[in-house]
Order: sequence, then structure tokens, then C-alpha cells
Amino acid sequence: MLARVFSAALYGVEAFEVDVEVDVAAGNPAIVIVGLPDAAVKESRDRVITAINNSGYRWPRARATVNLAPAAVKKEGPSFDLPIALCMVITGEDVKLPRLDQYAFVGELALTGALRPVKGVLSIALWARRAKKKALFVPAANAREAAIVEGIDIYGVNSLRETFEFLRGERALEPVKQDLDAYFQAERNYDVDFADVKGQLDVKRAIEVAVAGGHNILLIGPPGSGKSMLAKRIPSVIPPMSLEEAIETTKVHSICGLLDPAHFFVALRPFRSPHHTTSDVGLLGGSSNPSPGEVSIAHNGVLFLDELPEFKRSTLEVLRQPIEDGKVTISRAAGTMTFPSEFMLVGAMNPCPCGFFGDLKRSCRCGANAVQKYRQRISGPLLDRIDIHIEVCSVEYKDIASRAPGESSAAIAGRVAEARKIQQARFRGHGKTNCNARMTPKLQKAFCQLDDDGARLLKMAMMELDFTARAYDRILRVARTVADLDGCENITSVHVGEAVQFRSLDRNWWG
Ligand SMILES: Nc1ncnc2c1ncn2[C@@H]1O[C@H](COP(=O)(O)OP(=O)(O)OP(=O)(O)O)[C@@H](O)[C@H]1O
Ligand SMILES: [Mg+2]
Ligand SMILES: [Zn+2]
Repeated sequence: MLARVFSAALYGVEAFEVDVEVDVAAGNPAIVIVGLPDAAVKESRDRVITAINNSGYRWPRARATVNLAPAAVKKEGPSFDLPIALCMVITGEDVKLPRLDQYAFVGELALTGALRPVKGVLSIALWARRAKKKALFVPAANAREAAIVEGIDIYGVNSLRETFEFLRGERALEPVKQDLDAYFQAERNYDVDFADVKGQLDVKRAIEVAVAGGHNILLIGPPGSGKSMLAKRIPSVIPPMSLEEAIETTKVHSICGLLDPAHFFVALRPFRSPHHTTSDVGLLGGSSNPSPGEVSIAHNGVLFLDELPEFKRSTLEVLRQPIEDGKVTISRAAGTMTFPSEFMLVGAMNPCPCGFFGDLKRSCRCGANAVQKYRQRISGPLLDRIDIHIEVCSVEYKDIASRAPGESSAAIAGRVAEARKIQQARFRGHGKTNCNARMTPKLQKAFCQLDDDGARLLKMAMMELDFTARAYDRILRVARTVADLDGCENITSVHVGEAVQFRSLDRNWWG
């Protein structure tokens, strides 16, 4: 006797169909799982049998072969428990369930027969809709997440018994309905705001320019100057995520198991701050059980690398691909897979090993060599991808003591949104480029023409302030953004002048 149930597995952030078939033949009671199962899938066998017993059903006490097709792709994790168990019960109880092929099932079984949540349900629900399934059955704790997808019935089920009773027509279940728009709107408030930051007007301005043009930024300042505080507030001035962006980010968080029934949808831009001891796999993703890394969890948000020089040089090197391409490719024995990784990179560092180089109140204890060595730990190619450097000085007493709130995130976000609109219009029809930071050399030539005064100032700055050559293009791009914030078509010397200040690490006097 044969039973067949549809399920799905993950590859990267997408799900694909897996047919779970159980064939029962005469022989000693045994279950064999074939079709490239990993260890967690193999363990399914014991969970499934105990869960069926504890649910009060019969399973075929004969030789059962469980086949997961397509056989060529590795199947991982415990999410096939439910479909396997259903096949076993169908054959054991010898029932016919007519509409079974219109449904798909995922879920991990506890020994009691209760269902536990699984990872990646949003991607699976998107697959189920593409596959034109009428309904998807998921563990109750995953139901709201799956129900983000409209146009397919999502049933949140608590146990094997509940599922089987529904399939036999012995129990009524209602598909999960929710007002996603209302949830999305309600969740779109950050709990931090730039109004909390006293003073630091120049740093806030640099952040505004960075976000407006999609530029990565590096904050350089002594301990306690507020670098972390400022960085955490950056997502609150980026234009709000669209529903599509939110779904793309939620897919990644779902695969990482970061969601729960109360927070089943990522409506806010993520802020990720991996420690400098995080492994390359933790940062980029990978390992034997494919899971996205921090660069992908930060997708559509901010990746904050605090104490940038403390990161291994090799680690900073591997960040180049995700920064450049907005995606990360992971090679494994089973093939390569891709995860999205479009984030704004925000770095922070002390100006020197002791932290107080250039500080007005405390003196630096580091020798010139030590300072230079410290800065050189950040590789040139990485620095090339960070358009804006800004020094963050300790906040002044009069600012800290002031009761006046700083400018709010909403006000900054308003100006950012205007500048982004200008860029969208500018780059329409220019492929992947959607902001000034992503201009190709050709686009830069077309859109970053300086007037005479601007050109003169830039030439002077390059020579007199002793800039390295790499600074030139960065200054042009940033000047474009400053002009956009100003609502100016032409880049003038005022815009160039401001952009020049944002390249402190490229000035050779730094060491
Ligand atoms: N401009 C500011 N307005 C209000 N509070 C501030 C400001 N700057 C710093 N603070 C206060 O100082 C604390 C320390 O700041 P923060 O941790 O952001 O500094 P940091 O530059 O990241 O230091 P470190 O180098 O040690 O990581 C903040 O939590 C905040 O309470
Ligand atoms: Mg900090
Ligand atoms: Zn020092």
C-alpha cells in the first residue's frame, strides 16, 4: 500500500516541493527513510512512531519505506515529521482521503503527538501558493507567519490528531485570517529616536547624508562618545520598508528561527551588531545546516560593525562580496546557494588603540606607529566601500545638560525621503543603480559634473589636504548627495566643501 503527501524544503531563501511517499510491503516491522535525509530527518523515524502511538493511531507493522522526492537534493531538519506521520497513519489505519493532494504539510512532532514550530514557514507558504495548493497545514505557532501569504488557506494545527481528524472530516478548523496591513502599520515604530541624542549636530548631519545617498559610513571617536547610540538610530531615518522588502527580510528571519507568534513579521529595518569575534560562518552564513549569516539577517537594514579594527582582516575581506553585490553566495557540498544581503554598513572605531587620539580632554598614550598600525588593520578595499568617515567627539557638557531634545528621526527622515525621490527619478532606467552610492563610473561621469568653483575647490582639497587618490570618486558621489539634499541640480563648491570633510581617514596626516 502506498500513501503520498506534499511537503516542502528550503534551498537558500526559497522553498521547493518535496513529495513524501510511504510504501508498505510485507516484512518485519521497520522504517527506512530514503532520498538524502540528514540526521534530523532520520531521527524522524523514532519521533513519528512514538507520536503515532501516543495519538492512539495504528501504523503499519510491516516494512515501510519512506521516500523523499526529489531524491537528489539533501533534506534537512525535522519539518517532514508531520507529512511522514500522516502517510504512516493513512496506511496503518487504511483510510482514503480524497482531497489530500490539494494540501501541503510541514511540522515537527513532539513525542506526545503535539506539533512544534519549524523554520522557513513563510518561504514554504509562498511556494504552496505558487504550487496552487488549496491549503497549507503548519504548526499553530507558525500560523500567523504563514498567513502573511494571501490567496491560500493556512491552517495552524496543534497536533497530529487534530490534523488527521480534520482530514477525515471529524473536526472543523478555520483557516487563519489576519489583518496584515493593520499589523504592519502598528509595528512600524522604532523605540529609539535621534531626538534622544544631544548635540552632535555634525555627526547627525553626516548620517543624514549617508542615508540619503545610500552611502556606508564609519564613525570614529573615543569611548563613550555615543557611536553605538547614534548607529542604533540609523534605521529610524531610512525610508520605511515596503511590504515587499518586509517580506524578503522576514523570509530570512524565518529561516533563522528568529520569529515567534507575537513577532511573526519584520516590519522594521533590522539593526544587527555582530561582535568582532563572530566567525565567518556566523557573519556570512553557511555551515552544514544552511543558515543565513548576520549580513543576511541585516537585509534591508543596518549592519553595525563596532570596533572595526578588531575584526580579523580576512573577515573584513570576505565582507566585500555582500557589500558589493547585495547578496552572498555560499558553497557547500550540496551545491551553492544565495542569500540576500542588502544592508547599509555602519562601522565604528576608536581613533587609536587607547581611544583618545585627538581628544580635547584626555591625552592619547599611543605612539605614532601604534596609531598607524591600528588604522591599517582596516583594509583599503573595505575602506573604498565606505564613502563617509566622520569623527565623533565626546559630547559637550552644555549639550548633555540641555533639556532641549535633539532633532527627531521623523524630521531627518523627511529630508532623506525627498533626496531619495530625486535619485529614483535620476536613475530610472539605469539598471541596478538606485542611489548615488551605487553609481557606476559612467553614471558618475554623467551626473557628477562640478561647476568651476566646485572643481577648483576639489583640486585644492586633493592637494592641500593631501588626500589619497581613492578619495576623489567618493567625494564626488557624496557631493552629489549633498546637492540632492539641497534640492540642487548642480554640484557647487558648497556641496564639495561639505563632502571633503567626510573623508578624514583618507588624509595622509592620519598616519
Ligand atoms: N550625544 C549624546 N546625547 C545623550 N546621551 C549620550 C550622548 N552621547 C553619549 N551619551 C550617553 O553615553 C552612553 C555611551 O554612549 P555609547 O555607548 O553610544 O558610546 P560609544 O561611543 O559607543 O562608546 P564605546 O567606544 O565605549 O563603544 C550612551 O548610552 C548615552 O547614555
Ligand atoms: Mg559603542
Ligand atoms: Zn591613543
